[in-house]
Amino acid sequence: MIERINAIKAELEQITAKDASEVEALRIKYLSKKGEISQLMVEFREVPAERKRELGPKLNELKNFATERINALRESFANADTGVEGLDLTRTAAPMRLGTRHPLSIVRREIVSIFSRLGFSIAEGPEIEDDWHVFSALNFAADHPARDMQDTFFIQRNPDVLLRTHTSSVQARVMEKTQPPIRIICPGRVYRNEAISARAHCFFHQVEALYVDTEVSFADLRQTLLYFAQEMFGSDTKIRLRPSYFPFTEPSAEMDISCNLCGGKGCSFCKGTGWVEILGCGMVDPNVLDSCGIDSKKYSGFALGMGIERITNLKYQVKDLRMFSENDVRFLREFESAR
Ligand code: DAH
Repeated sequence: MIERINAIKAELEQITAKDASEVEALRIKYLSKKGEISQLMVEFREVPAERKRELGPKLNELKNFATERINALRESFANADTGVEGLDLTRTAAPMRLGTRHPLSIVRREIVSIFSRLGFSIAEGPEIEDDWHVFSALNFAADHPARDMQDTFFIQRNPDVLLRTHTSSVQARVMEKTQPPIRIICPGRVYRNEAISARAHCFFHQVEALYVDTEVSFADLRQTLLYFAQEMFGSDTKIRLRPSYFPFTEPSAEMDISCNLCGGKGCSFCKGTGWVEILGCGMVDPNVLDSCGIDSKKYSGFALGMGIERITNLKYQVKDLRMFSENDVRFLREFESAR
């Protein structure tokens, strides 16, 4: 028996394992109920009493040695599983889904980028405004219906603290502070006191553009509009201008583009006309220039304003305005492939 004890001890001194399952195999081989050391323990019972005194301690020592060796091996693998050495840095990472830009942000960025190629730079103004910048400086008559409580959110019953109803207020703010040449694009959120439905919301987004310099003409406006429409909706896009009215422009116009869904043939989206309205524009009324401290005899300018939701609907056919503010991830994910 003593030879077998020594032989097993010598083996145990040599053991190695490549992974945790090999360690387990070693444990079974030596220490399980039917393992080699347990086997020796069984045989030990039959050993004559006078030899037990000599063999007993040796056998116990062997068992402890085996347990220590195998535990040490097992621990080395437990560490390797969590430690840096055990990491497989070549393994493909678990897929991580990226977030998406909001469709209104995608379109806002595109509009801004088109105008910036024409030399326009971004200007911003406050959403909480005063009467002067939203209405008076922009030539709204004192009794103009747009000032009415039904359209405008007033704050704290004070008629001079209100939420801007359009981004044209930024025009007024910039003109007050800057002399021409002025070439700005003003994206932002606006508020109107409307009941929320698929087609109207109490807040939405606009982009305003303003160009003031010497000898700015309606032809400049028209060419800018054509460039914008074709960059935004494709080079086949046609535009038409219809006379309109805004207090802050004279003459004023509304711009239609050839319907980008049916290519101008007429469909339900354009109500069979082949055209869809996308923005308001005109030559800045001289009264507005003068109100803001710009000499209307020396300078002229054009302005235009559009709703970002409207442009987005045209590009992506979003049927219900409420989708834009509900943050439904299923809707937002549809814009994953957009820029
Ligand atoms: N402010 C107008 C609106 O909210 C849009 C607009 C029309 C802006 C004509 C302009 C413009 O600058 O020239 O409906």
